[in-house]
Amino acid sequence: SENIYILGIESSCDDTAASVICNGKVLSNVVANQKIHEAYGGVVPELASRAHQQNIVPVVDQALKKANISKNELHAVAFTRGPGLLGSLLVGTSFAKSLAFGLQIPLIEVNHMQAHILAHFIEEEGYNKPPFPFLAMTISGGHTQIVKVSNYFDMDVIGETIDDAVGEAYDKSGKILGLGYPAGPEIDKLAKLGNPKAFKFTKPKVDGLNFSFSGLKTAILYFVQNETKNNPNFIEDNINDICASIQYTIIGILIDKLKIAVKQTGIKHIAIGGGVSANSGIRQALKDGENKFGWTTYVPKFEYTTDNAAMIAIVGYLKYLNNDFSENKITASARLKI
Ligand code: KG4
Ligand code: ZN
Repeated sequence: SENIYILGIESSCDDTAASVICNGKVLSNVVANQKIHEAYGGVVPELASRAHQQNIVPVVDQALKKANISKNELHAVAFTRGPGLLGSLLVGTSFAKSLAFGLQIPLIEVNHMQAHILAHFIEEEGYNKPPFPFLAMTISGGHTQIVKVSNYFDMDVIGETIDDAVGEAYDKSGKILGLGYPAGPEIDKLAKLGNPKAFKFTKPKVDGLNFSFSGLKTAILYFVQNETKNNPNFIEDNINDICASIQYTIIGILIDKLKIAVKQTGIKHIAIGGGVSANSGIRQALKDGENKFGWTTYVPKFEYTTDNAAMIAIVGYLKYLNNDFSENKITASARLKI
């Protein structure tokens, strides 16, 4: 049968990414990270869209080169329509529309949150895909969701954050502690050296399967301010224990909600995605859940969990097989829902 080549383009936040996949297998997966935001301790939207404009042509070019195909061999162009930063989305959307129009091939819109989940269906040697129905937990700097996935395009959000994302909780806590941005990986590393029960932070009370992380950040701020009054070196003296305690609290919040979701739905297959899924504590807690609660957990390759274009391309491929194409007048949508 014919080889189907799909180009995926992702530009929803601060990474400009392009990928070519063939029949669901990744041929190239190029990401240009925007270092510029580090100095600001968070993503600056205006700078992000400007950087996307600089990066998009070379990134797509590289993705085609690495895949060793010409643009004329593409069957469709898939792009992130939303959700995300509007100025960032506009760059990828406009580029994808122009390219598909120029090549006279189908254009395929992709929901970024669906893509994080469908990244599990990228064809990878030795990777067991989750069977339907499964629960997907997407945790990153921009998102915190639990989704019931009944089929590729039959998904229900059953829980999400009402304020900050879990990655934001890591990054904002890190800022309070004087760590660099993004702070998640650093907190994870230091947490391994500390006592998770050294300090206690209360978990937020949020109904059902929803999350809240803004209170935790404030609790940490007050705690650190208070302790620093007695000991100006409190942070340096206790950095490992502080990080371990923060990590313990955050993981507790996530696992508590997952347990409720499993109980409510009767579904024990759990697939995770988003940059925070790199966290060693979360991975360990999910593994423990396999023995303790009979869960089966699915964790894709790291490069498919953070923002990337291979996940956009795989959704493009699945939609291509369904002849599910977009009209050329389509526009980006910052608040697109699953
Ligand atoms: O998916 P991602 O690359 O971008 C989006 O936010 O969409 O996720 C980045 C987030 C940041 O908040 C970063 O601090 C967090 O993922 N992160 C981690 C770890 N690695 C990345 N958080 C906790 N532990 C980690 N090991
Ligand atoms: Zn994302």
